[in-house]
Amino acid sequence: MPNLAVVGAQWGDEGKGKVVDLLSERFDVVARYQGGPNAGHTVTVGGRRHALHHVPSGVFREGVRAVIGNGTVLDLGRLVEEIEALAAAGVRLTGRLFVSDRAHVILPPMARLDEAAEESASEGSRIGTTRKGIGPAYQTKTARGGIRMADVLDLAHLEARIGELLDGPLAPWFRSAGSWDRAALAREIHGHGQKLEAFVADTSLLLNAWIDEGKRILFEGAQGTLLDLDHGSYPFVTSSSTVAGGLCGGLGISPTRVAGVVGVLKAYCTRVGCGPMPTELHDGPGGLGEKIRERGREFGTTTGRPRRCGWFDGAAAAYANRINRFDSVCVMLLDVLDVFDSLRVCTGYRLDGREVRGFPATVRDAERLAPVFETLPGWRRETSGARRWDDLPAEAKRYLARLEEVIGAEVGLVSVGPDREQSILRPGTWLARALGS
Ligand code: GDP
Ligand code: IMO
Ligand code: MG
Repeated sequence: MPNLAVVGAQWGDEGKGKVVDLLSERFDVVARYQGGPNAGHTVTVGGRRHALHHVPSGVFREGVRAVIGNGTVLDLGRLVEEIEALAAAGVRLTGRLFVSDRAHVILPPMARLDEAAEESASEGSRIGTTRKGIGPAYQTKTARGGIRMADVLDLAHLEARIGELLDGPLAPWFRSAGSWDRAALAREIHGHGQKLEAFVADTSLLLNAWIDEGKRILFEGAQGTLLDLDHGSYPFVTSSSTVAGGLCGGLGISPTRVAGVVGVLKAYCTRVGCGPMPTELHDGPGGLGEKIRERGREFGTTTGRPRRCGWFDGAAAAYANRINRFDSVCVMLLDVLDVFDSLRVCTGYRLDGREVRGFPATVRDAERLAPVFETLPGWRRETSGARRWDDLPAEAKRYLARLEEVIGAEVGLVSVGPDREQSILRPGTWLARALGS
């Protein structure tokens, strides 16, 4: 059984949580490699919805180990709350959750800096972040001033490190977020750290040892390819490497130990926050965009914000396939499209009359893209009860076949509702073989 990566292929919220929960049945370990509480991964088990922010989505399978890797940034107070909420729901993590000693800590001033940057930005330059402090935490990390999990367990050391950070080269920036009592900050973070101490480990060491023993690892991406710091619609991106390649650095794993990459896509597109979205529907109240939002319950898991909705963007998906080289993709929320007479699929972009390959490097160009649309017939039949490939209407299969051509990767799994059962693993595909079906 190979080690597989599950990666978002759009602008996040593609349904990665559901896919990871589903697939983790066949794995021993699930590992998150980047992002932090900006992520909101929903897993529905037995009709009950769980929203996960830091903790990997494999924890609902008993016996599956969960790793939060060095490439993540953690809000320790929220992480403690998340672990406690899971325990209250009967999901115990003691002995099976491992948090990297090298993961960076989001300090309260960083969340404040994130908020302040959003509040002071002009309409056109506001990123629309989750305001969780993600950007400032990664900025501090790359500036080599960050506080890591290994620093929080000793109070005197932590207070000294916080002092160095707040008085070091980044001091003017931190001062702009207010004045901070270093001792109080250190006590707060240390208090959370004590509750997490039992989980802290050198997770690269553990993961590599587990792989040597033949254990199967599932790598869980957060956000999506078009939100990647390098390859996304910069600067309207998150601050980490969300793509498949990011998992190696984010976990301390060699690419030779990754056997395959699975992309996750919605059957249409959404984006929460600002920035270019070429296929967005701007047809207002009562329009198709609103219909998708209502049917797909497209409101942010982390912030509750309404998600912007639009047609499937095959050009962006093909670009995501170039960056990640998907062995297979999962098409999620197909049921949301059940009521449409016809569906549009963007098969490419044009800019100033010329064909564009990939996604433009500048927002100025990305905002001027003219999507090339193709119209396909809808199926106008409920698919949420479909359990096998052959239960899908012919028009739905035709739609999926067109998506495969446009993306350049097979569709290995289709999802027709939030529950585990509402999933169709397509026989004969790379994914079905990789999962041993
Ligand atoms: P993630 O961030 O990629 O894990 O995705 P989110 O959990 O933020 O958003 C996906 C949403 O779609 C969640 O509310 C899921 O419960 C829901 N969902 C996942 N798959 C399906 C599906 O096939 N149909 C429907 N209707 N909802 C789904
Ligand atoms: P999951 O893992 C969708 C977006 C924000 C904003 C941009 C930067 O659930 O798919 P940040 O707070 O990261 O600095 O915000 O990225 N964003 C997400 N959008 N799903 C997510 O995570 C996201 N995490 C961040 O809305 O546009
Ligand atoms: Mg989400």
